[in-house]
Amino acid sequence: MAISLLFGACQTNDQKAAAADDASSANSSKTTLVAFFSASEERVTAQVARTLAEATDADLFEIVPEKPYTVADLNWKDQKSRSTIEMKDSAARPAVEGKVENMDQYTTIYVGFPIWWYTAPRIVNTFLEQYDLTGKTIIPFATSGGSDMGKSGEDLKLASAPTANWILPGKVLNGNPPVDSLKVWVAGLFADDNAPKE
Ligand SMILES: Cc1cc2nc3c(=O)[nH]c(=O)nc-3n(C[C@H](O)[C@H](O)[C@H](O)COP(=O)(O)O)c2cc1C
Repeated sequence: MAISLLFGACQTNDQKAAAADDASSANSSKTTLVAFFSASEERVTAQVARTLAEATDADLFEIVPEKPYTVADLNWKDQKSRSTIEMKDSAARPAVEGKVENMDQYTTIYVGFPIWWYTAPRIVNTFLEQYDLTGKTIIPFATSGGSDMGKSGEDLKLASAPTANWILPGKVLNGNPPVDSLKVWVAGLFADDNAPKE
């Protein structure tokens, strides 16, 4: 399988087989990718990413850290926690496990992440910098404890994929929005008066 495709957490063998079939046909034809990072035990971003992939008929790729984030790593109240140290250093690039081998086939990429310190976790920069994304349309989305997108999309664009066509600011998709509401959001993104901007 060219990329890691993700399916529901608890599956029977039959469901897994069906999902694998979907994956092989998907790899040959889908032009939209939903790539996401999700770190907390609740996996909030993972849930919305899965729904967004359904809403956009996209393949799904999880940005998996080579070194998983522990609960202690995610403690933003600890000045010395891994996440705090990484977010204080805009050049930090935590390693990603695996790669989207067939990135060439995608023209539109939704990139999802939890907001960390008002922006995107550095591992999302690592992910973007693995590819030549020139000319691809990138739309960021996030989940958060209440913050909006802030400059997260702009930060990612400038640092890690300046030659892609970003649709900014993207959107915080909290509260596990249903497929239909995500379809409405996506339709609005591609309406004429909101064409991809540099
Ligand atoms: C290190 C760290 C920093 C965070 N910073 C913010 C923040 O600046 N604003 C906010 O609203 N939520 C913040 N959060 C909360 C997460 O954005 C939120 O819980 C998110 O939905 C988690 O998604 P996940 O389950 O996919 O990891 C932070 C969480 C962590 C672990």
